[in-house]
Amino acid sequence: MKARAYVNFALIKYWGKKDEKLRLPFQASLSFTIDKLFTDTKVTVNKKLIKDKITINGISDERLNKRVIQHLNLIRSKYNIKDYVEVTSVNNVPTSAGLASSASSFAALTLAATKAFNLNLSKEELSRLSRYASGSASRSIFGNFAIWDVGDDKTSIARPIDINWPEFKIIVLMIDKSKKPASSTDAMKESVENKLLYDEWVKQSKIDLDKMLIALNNKDIKSVGEIAEKNANHMHDLIESTGITYKTKESLKAIDKIHELRTKGVLAYYTMDAGPNIKIITIDSEVNKIVDYFNEYETIVCSKGKDAHIVLN
Ligand code: PMV
Repeated sequence: MKARAYVNFALIKYWGKKDEKLRLPFQASLSFTIDKLFTDTKVTVNKKLIKDKITINGISDERLNKRVIQHLNLIRSKYNIKDYVEVTSVNNVPTSAGLASSASSFAALTLAATKAFNLNLSKEELSRLSRYASGSASRSIFGNFAIWDVGDDKTSIARPIDINWPEFKIIVLMIDKSKKPASSTDAMKESVENKLLYDEWVKQSKIDLDKMLIALNNKDIKSVGEIAEKNANHMHDLIESTGITYKTKESLKAIDKIHELRTKGVLAYYTMDAGPNIKIITIDSEVNKIVDYFNEYETIVCSKGKDAHIVLN
C-alpha cells in the first residue's frame, strides 16, 4: 500500500511538549500543507519476515530506521497486529534540513502502514497516530490550512480549517540542504526548561493564533505575514536563549533581502523552522517579483497541498 503525504509549514509554530511520551503540545499550532514537497511511502506485509525491512531514500540507515520501527511497533501494539512489513519511503524533500520532512514522512507511514494492516482509520485517528511519531506530522494528514489543538491524548489532533484562499503561496528558499545542528526534540526540551521565557512563548502564541485566524478569514496577507513572522522570530529567540541556533549567515542574508523587498512595496514575509531554510509567505501577484529578486537561490513556489492519500501504482 503506497501513501503520499505533503509537507506542512506552521504559520503559528508548535514548540515544546507538555507530555514527551504522548507528544502533547503546550500550545496549539496552525499550518499550511503545501503541494510541492511530499513523501511517498510503500508498506507491504510480508509474513516471511522476522523483522521489519526498511529503505528510506534508497538506503537503510539504522538511526532513521529506528524511529520507523518504533512507530510500526506502536501501531502493532495498539491494534494487536503481529506482522512485519517492508517499508520503502522516498522523500522529495531533503531529510533533516528544517523542511519538515518528518511531518510528511510520518503522516505517509501512518497512512500506508494502517492500510497495509487492513485498518480503515478516520482522519482524526490517523492524525493522532501520526502525532505519536512527530508532532507536526499530525497536521500533514490534512491539506490546506490546519490547526493542531492542545487537548489530551484523545483530543490533541489536527483539524482542517475552512479557508479557501488559492492566491496564498509559500515560496521555499533553499539556503542549505545539510543536516540541522540539533534535533527539534532536543531543542524543544531545552527551551521548555527556560521557564520564564517559555511561559511567555505559550501565552503569546495563543494571542498570535487568535489574530492569525482573523487575518486568514479576511485573506489579509499583510497581517498573516506579520503575525507569522513575529511568531517565528519569537520561537527562534526562545531557541537561541538555549545556545542552539538554526539561523545561518545565509538565512540572515535572505531575511535582510525580504526586508528590502518590503521597502519596495512587495508583500513578502518569512517563517523559519528547525533549520536554515526560509519560507516566504506571500500571494500570487507577488510571486514573480520575489522569485526574480532571489534568482541566486533555488526557489520552490508552493500552493496548497492535498490531504494525505493512497496512491495507486
Ligand atoms: O514535529 P517536529 O518534532 O518535527 O517539530 C516541528 C517544529 C517546527 O517545525 C519548528 C514548528 C512546527 O510547528 O512545525
